[in-house]
Formats: sequence, structure tokens, C-alpha cells
Amino acid sequence: MGDKASLDREKARKYLRALCMQIERHDYLYYRANSPEISDFEYDCLQAEKQALLKLYPEWRRDEGPGSDLGNLHFPMAKHLLPMLSLSNTYSQEALFEFFRRVEGKVQVSCSYLLEPKIDGVAINLVYKHRYLEKAITRGNGYVGEVVTENIRTIKEIPSMLPESAPEEIELRGEIYLTERQFTYLNNEQERLGLETYANARNLAAGSLKLLDVSEVARRQLHFIAHGVGFVSNDVNLDTQARLYTFFEQWGIPIFSFVVPGSGAEQIWDLIARFRLAQGELPYGTDGVVVKVNDRLLQEQLGVTAKSPRWAIAYKFEPESAETLLQEVAFQVGRTGVITPVAELIPVDLAGSKVARATLHNFDEIQRKDIRKRDVVIVQKAGEIIPAIVGVKKDKRGASTEKIEVPSQCPACGAPLLKIAGEVVIRCTSLNCPPQLRLKIVHFASKDAVDIDGLGPKIVDTLVSQGWLKDVADVFTLIDRRDAWIRLPGFSVTSVDNVLLAIERAKNRPLECLLYGLSIPHVGVELARKLAEYSTSLEQLMQLSIQQLKAIPLVGEVTACSIVDFFANARNQSVIEKLLQLGLKTSFLEKPTEYPLNGKILALTGSLTRLTRFEAERVIVSFGGSVGRMITKQTSILVCGANPGNKLAKAKALGIQIWSEEEFLHHVGILHADRS
Ligand code: IVH
Repeated sequence: MGDKASLDREKARKYLRALCMQIERHDYLYYRANSPEISDFEYDCLQAEKQALLKLYPEWRRDEGPGSDLGNLHFPMAKHLLPMLSLSNTYSQEALFEFFRRVEGKVQVSCSYLLEPKIDGVAINLVYKHRYLEKAITRGNGYVGEVVTENIRTIKEIPSMLPESAPEEIELRGEIYLTERQFTYLNNEQERLGLETYANARNLAAGSLKLLDVSEVARRQLHFIAHGVGFVSNDVNLDTQARLYTFFEQWGIPIFSFVVPGSGAEQIWDLIARFRLAQGELPYGTDGVVVKVNDRLLQEQLGVTAKSPRWAIAYKFEPESAETLLQEVAFQVGRTGVITPVAELIPVDLAGSKVARATLHNFDEIQRKDIRKRDVVIVQKAGEIIPAIVGVKKDKRGASTEKIEVPSQCPACGAPLLKIAGEVVIRCTSLNCPPQLRLKIVHFASKDAVDIDGLGPKIVDTLVSQGWLKDVADVFTLIDRRDAWIRLPGFSVTSVDNVLLAIERAKNRPLECLLYGLSIPHVGVELARKLAEYSTSLEQLMQLSIQQLKAIPLVGEVTACSIVDFFANARNQSVIEKLLQLGLKTSFLEKPTEYPLNGKILALTGSLTRLTRFEAERVIVSFGGSVGRMITKQTSILVCGANPGNKLAKAKALGIQIWSEEEFLHHVGILHADRS
């Protein structure tokens, strides 16, 4: 008996460890990479499982804060005056009613509550000092966040100044979001340009908030809604949550259009049903209702835990799901060779569309959920995330079900598959695998990598099928294919030249971009940055041992081995050799401080012949400068094309340096004297 108990305990311990690892991975994908693989609902289920286990084994509980989205080293950090907590959430009526019992048991009165949408956005803290917007800080780890004030200033409805009636000092808390409409527009545009699309509006908003190019943030049209306060200097009477919203309105701060008071569990339950019905009519995405104790004194009395206030709860709507038969399992090959099992289903109607395929995530998940071929499965779609199999109807399991075997060969190229120690996934390690090659090149060209504008999935497919791209280095040989490329259907001199110009510019990206672009397994944006910080060149990095790599922050055993394996591979070495020969800058002693336009503000006037206005702005930014829309005393240089506007006269009057388009291109090194 004792043995059995310790065996169960051992099993539970292992299971908890696996759960925690998965949660950590999904936290990374959601908060830092802004590209979640699973829906919020699936994530919440993992968390609920973890909590259930910890209830059984409280000794394994560790103190945890409210989670973290820190990681972008581009922005300075700042401390919140009061911590930004998270909300406890539930999908069950029972847990909601338990919340009411707990609250009312503690405060000994029947309470009135406020119900409002749980908006699916990105939390922000707006710090007003002497009534001026001083800083906008992301939630970060709840205690410190990243300062993104300039990006926030692009949001028209956020006042830069509060009226006299507002407190001297206040932290306004709320949510940054994109309307569903704008999300669809921006994502369609990304797709048209052959760029990566986003899973949902929240991810696109989160990504936008951390862009370095303020004019691009402005173009995305973010919005804001306030839902609370942090620190408040003591000069207004904010006695209820409802009163707070009245004040917000007076101060010109946007609030929810749909806030409903309620009391008593039954009444609130009915109101929640109404919120669910109204969900589709709101311009932003919501995934539930937040129920808050209205009286702020009672809020204070109830207090907070390390993670969340005890006076509020989010009741979340379960995403729509459907049952269907899993017929077959196909295997998809990803960029770094990861094999993803995909369920082929008898098509079923789900949230307004027909679903015939759904992801099974990985083989550990298949085992954990005990999914078999010809099982009746539950398929779910939440937000815009691709549908996923979230469970099996075991009571409907027939005799003909069949185990899903882990493949031993790559479905695309036939190479043997490997399960690497410490990873949940299996990989194809062939360097000639066609789908991997396409995805690797698209990734190499992506914004956070070497950033080749215009080299998206469609064009890459064409160029790969022409046989012109056999590895990422071949991108820099495309200049030799110019004549043939222009003759391909769907291309023109201008479109090809624009891509070639972007390729030229990509030769000078910082080391971190190149590193990220090489698709080294486990090396994401953040890790690439750390590696670049600790090395001076690609060649030097290639020489580091596992031990030396592990001395770099964020690099663990698995990552260090993966980096060493990557550089030890002869084929990878020859790709890097080729990159060097083709003129890629891989020695990075030259830090951004030495960019030719560093610290300079450039304005543009007239029409340029070699670059579009957009490209010229991008060149300015990539070479360390910033773009000024107007001529001021701060303007450093005016780049003047044909038929200049009145900016030219203004610049002359202020004695500002003026460059022709050619001078500009020479200066940044795009146009070389011998070639022009
Ligand atoms: S009040 C102490 N109200 O959801 C936190 N938060 O999952 C109080 N959220 O971090 C927050 N809609 O960013 C509040 N109506 C709403 C909300 C809301 C969305 C976000 C908020 C919070 C997260 C927790």
C-alpha cells in the first residue's frame, strides 16, 4: 500500500513537472513571441490541472507572481507604483458562486457588483504626474514593465493631459486593443505582402506595442479602454468602481460601453448570459465577463493574493466545440524540422466555418489525452487560433480504434526522425528537406531576422521551385538571376528591384538578427539578442563550447547543445562560409552607435526615383536615424527629390543640410560610387 502511494506520488511529481514545462513554454509563446500555439481555453485547462495537482500535494507549491511578459530589451524598464496583478478566472458556475460566498462571508454584507467585458487586449499602466502623461508601462512581471510611452502617444483617445478635477498623480490601468475590423484589415495586408500573419487581434496588438518604429505603430491604430487604477494621490473620492468610471468619463478617458451593476448570484448568472449574447456586437474581442465588487472600501478589506485581487473574478466563456470522427493523422514539417501531428476529421461546423483539420500539437499531447485514430474527438476553436483537438469521447470509443504511431521517417523527405533529449518534439534533421527549406528562407527574411521586405512565402515558393534557392545564403545570389526573375509571370522590374534592394540592405543587419534568422533550434529573438551581446562575431560564437555557452544568461543545457550541434554540422558551416563570401557582415564590433545616421533626424521632400517614400523611411531607420515629418530646428538633414515642396525653403531658411537622393544613398552605403 505504502509502495503504491509512493508510486502514485512519483507519477504525480513527473506529471506536474511535465505540466509546468508545458505551461512555461506556452507562457513564452504567448507573452514573448506573441504567437501562441494553443487557445486560451487549452492553456487555462493546463493551469487548472496544475492547480488541482497542487491541491493534492500542497508541499510542491511554490510562490508565484502574476506571470511575466518581459523580454524585449529595446525599451527601458520602470517600476509600477503599485503592482499590476492578474485576475483569477474560471469557466465554472460553481466556482463563480463560490467566489460570491467567499466575498460575502468575509465582508458580512450582501454585496453589489459591477459586470464588464473581459477584453482580450494587452494591459497597460498610464502614469500621470501633475496631470501630464509621463509614462506608459507594460505589465511586465507585474512589478516592473517596459516603458512604451512614445508608442502609446499614437493612440488618439489617450489624453496627454488630464483636467484640473483629476488627481495630481494617478496610475490609470487599462487595456490596449485592436478592433476586430482593423485586425482583419492589417492581417489581410500582411498576407498580401507575403508576410507572416497573426493568430488573433491580441497578438497583433501586443506585437505592435513593442515596435521600434513609431510611425508603424500609428498606422496600426491601437485603442485603449480603462478598467481601473493603481496608485492615486489622495484628492478625489473614488468610493465605488462605478464612480471611478464616471470620473474617467469626465476626464476624457475611454471606458466600456457595457458596464452592468448586479447583486446576488442568480441575477448575476442571468446577466452573464446577456453578456455572452452581446459578445459579437462589441468592436473588440472578449472572452468573458469580469465581476468586480463595486464598493472600493470593501475591495480594500478583501485585499489581494500574490497574483490577483480577492474582490474580482473573470468568468470566461468556454469556446465553441464540436464532436467529430478523427479519420487519419497527417504529419506536418515545420521550419526547424519539428513534426506536428495534424488530425484529419470528418468535416464539422464550428464557430461559423467547416473544420476538416485540427492540430494535435505533439506526440506527448496525444499520449496525455490518449487519442487514437477513429476516436470521436472534441474539436475546438478559440479566437482565431487554428482548431485543436482538446479531448476524446472515451465512452464512444469503438473496437476499430488504432494507436497513432510516432513516425520514424520525415513525411516530406524520408530522412530519419529524431527525438532529442529534453525536447517534447520529434524532428527531421535533414538539411535538404523541401518544406523546411521554404520556411527557413521565409524566416531568414522576416522582420526580426535580416528583414528583407517583400521576400514572403509566395515569392520564396516561386524562387525555390526555380531551383534558385537551396539554402538561406542563396538569397544573396539572387542579384545574378535578375534578368530571368523579371521575366517570371507576376514580376516586374520594379518589384524585383525592390526586393533586390532590400536584400542588399539585409547584409548589414546586427548579429542578433542574423543569428535569429539562421533557424538554430531553440534560438528565438530574445536568445539571439543575448548571444550577440556576449560575442563579437559569428565566427567567435561558432567556437564556443557547451560550457562557455551555458555561462551566457538564458542559455541552458538543451539550448547550448543545440547551438553547438548546429555549428558543428558541415552543411551549416558551408552555408555560413557562403554568407561570408557573399558580403554579409558577420563581425559586429561595430555596434549601432556607428551607424551612419545614428542620432540624426531626416526629413524627405519631393519625389525620389530609386526608392519609394516608404522605403526611404525604412532606410533611414535601419541606418540609425529617425524620420521627421516636418522641418524643425531639430531636423538634421533634408533629403530632396524632384519637385520639392515648401520643406526645401524652410530647411534653407534654418540652414539645415540638404542631400540629393544620390548623396543620401551614398551616405548609407547603398549606392557605391563605382556602381552608380
Ligand atoms: S481589472 C488586478 N477589468 O485581464 C487586475 N482587467 O487576466 C484588475 N482585463 O491583467 C484588472 N478586461 O489586463 C480588469 N474588464 C477588465 C478587464 C481586465 C481585461 C485584463 C487585465 C488583467 C487581465 C487578467
